[in-house]
Amino acid sequence: MELPFAESYKIKMVETIRKSTRDEREKWIKEAWFNLFNLRSDQVFVDLLTDSGTGAMSDRQWSELMLGDESYAGASSYYKLKKAIRDITGFEYFLPTHQGRAAENVLFSALVKEGDIVPGNAHFDTTKGHIEFRKATAVDCTIDEAFDTTLDHPFKGNIDLEKLEAVLKSHPAEKIPMVIITVTCNTSGGQPLSMQNIREVSAMARKYGIRVIFDAARFAENAYFIKTREIAYADKSIREIVREMFSYGDGMTMSSKKDAIVNMGGFIGLRDEELFRQASIFNIMFEGYITYGGMSGRDMNALAQGLYEGTEFEYLETRIKQVALLGNLLHEAGVPVQIPFGGHAIFVDALRFLPHLPREQYVAQTLAVEFYIEGGVRGVEIGTLLADRDPVTRLDRFPKLELVRFALPRRVYTDNHIRYVAATVIRVYERRNTITKGFRIACEAPILRHFTVALEKL
Ligand code: F0G
Repeated sequence: MELPFAESYKIKMVETIRKSTRDEREKWIKEAWFNLFNLRSDQVFVDLLTDSGTGAMSDRQWSELMLGDESYAGASSYYKLKKAIRDITGFEYFLPTHQGRAAENVLFSALVKEGDIVPGNAHFDTTKGHIEFRKATAVDCTIDEAFDTTLDHPFKGNIDLEKLEAVLKSHPAEKIPMVIITVTCNTSGGQPLSMQNIREVSAMARKYGIRVIFDAARFAENAYFIKTREIAYADKSIREIVREMFSYGDGMTMSSKKDAIVNMGGFIGLRDEELFRQASIFNIMFEGYITYGGMSGRDMNALAQGLYEGTEFEYLETRIKQVALLGNLLHEAGVPVQIPFGGHAIFVDALRFLPHLPREQYVAQTLAVEFYIEGGVRGVEIGTLLADRDPVTRLDRFPKLELVRFALPRRVYTDNHIRYVAATVIRVYERRNTITKGFRIACEAPILRHFTVALEKL
């Protein structure tokens, strides 16, 4: 008999979570204006809202907290983090920030001007927000295969070289401050890019004199998929793959709350000293002095340790297999989920789940609310609410996909929780024909509306 797969860690500390009744949940979600962000965490049983900052730190990370150096300038924690970033990514220069969007804010303040064009693959919403806030335009060049949730393609995060070249050809280089490579693509399903595609994108950008910046939030999960799906990399270590991947870029913005397994933090990594100097000015203005920039010394220590742990194969295998467990349970029950499964999350295809509901009624949000009511499971809408309105016409932008994301916190839930989530979703699937009405917006913010939107049941 073959030995089954088992986690590469054991549990040293636990946190109690509580179940609730369906009546309680119906009341709470109404009080929350049908916006899952408005729920209190103790109203949720299994919280798969995000994998961002929700992971469990290891004993080694917790002990690093005690060693933190809180000096304002030149703290040893800064140098520890600088060394870890150089070891793992190869970037010589770095700026700490309080999270990923802060890294975007700082770097884009130095790079993006009104009227600029920023091609990339499935820019994350804060990335797009920071581009559009500067009156520039993000152009999504992801391959078309990414938008068919039923198609089994190993690298649905890939950039379509023809789409990219069309953008690079039709604008002068000074209007294109960078190409953004998002590893992995959150918005299109946690899908990776192949090393080959990254290499080709980088070569094309170089040909046109454009820099390449990685949105690296889930770079280690992308490296895992390269190792397990791209034959040439089967025998390389995750760290070797990561180093090669970043060698094709000029810099990175990082949300350390994902693949570096800390609860708060981010950074910018850069190769060019001059760009580092320019970005440093904005870092000091928005985040803090360049040797702490929005982070305390202890948090920089835990982050340095997290970068090493997050790039270990055994850890990544444990994580990504748990995500696949959820995916397989749903897929086998006939629930429409994106194939292949992403690195950090399972995406339920709401348009195939509730084909009878008009898109104007926010289909994925309707479904996310049903999952909460059914089992106290919190996912998140990746659909029309998230896509915001068109900045010019102010009309709803209907994205190609309407998804509910179940993002798995790192090292937090057991496989029994995963089975509970799957059963919750399957129960809703069995009664899907009874879900006949969605929502209309009662009140919304002008940008990044999904966080605060208030909804009314139709
Ligand atoms: N880039 C990607 C690909 C992301 O997924 C996120 C955050 C960010 C940048 C911004 O980083 O949150 O540290 O400011 N994604 C979270 C999520 C919010 O739930 O997927 P941040």
